[in-house]
Amino acid sequence: MERIKGYTYGQAMSSPVSLNDLELLKTTVLFTDDDVQHLKLAGEVLQDQTDEILDLWYGFVGSNAHLVHYFGNGSAPNAEYLTAVRARFNQWILDLCKKPYDQTWLNYQHEIGLRHHSIKKNKTDNVDSVPIIHYRYLVAFIFPITATIKGFLAKKNHDAQTIEKMYSAWFKAVTLTVVLWTHPYIKENEF
Ligand code: HEM
Repeated sequence: MERIKGYTYGQAMSSPVSLNDLELLKTTVLFTDDDVQHLKLAGEVLQDQTDEILDLWYGFVGSNAHLVHYFGNGSAPNAEYLTAVRARFNQWILDLCKKPYDQTWLNYQHEIGLRHHSIKKNKTDNVDSVPIIHYRYLVAFIFPITATIKGFLAKKNHDAQTIEKMYSAWFKAVTLTVVLWTHPYIKENEF
């Protein structure tokens, strides 16, 4: 596989969230082994569609000035930044579906949270852009990132129930990861 610039999966520092806390979060979003299986299937269904998915998501961001704002510095968005992030976003779709949610995965979720927060935003790609993605949009993004995936899950002739299960597993997985990503935004002892 071609190396993805700035993708440091396996090299991230230890997450402040424990595996035990992750288990409790999984229980809270009703994430079960059945979801693990359906996410794996979703990964197979989505893996050759990631370019179209990213075209759709980037189209959404690009057509909203208040969102594309985070890829620039008050003027035009930085095209190199958009492209570099897109490659890691592509890998994230596959990782979300296929990787085991172990300590390595947990650590990289923390890293992604830091990259949205002022602690690490812009550092990976060494760009001059606004310093933080505001918390409210991380949470709000759960809906578009979820709703738009259904059509792609339905493209490989699975029955309606299987599509629904893949969709629901995806929704739980996105919710879980975004919760983990918000850690740097939350005051100490309040996460
Ligand atoms: C980075 C996904 C919310 C803008 C990333 C990456 C992924 C991702 C996978 C690359 C991570 C890596 O470096 O490996 C998501 C998802 C979101 C979300 C799933 C919510 C459900 C947002 C929002 C914005 C945004 C609301 C604002 C428009 C960015 C930017 C970066 C980034 C600018 C690059 C940060 C850096 O400088 O490293 N996002 N994102 N993201 N995302 Fe998000």
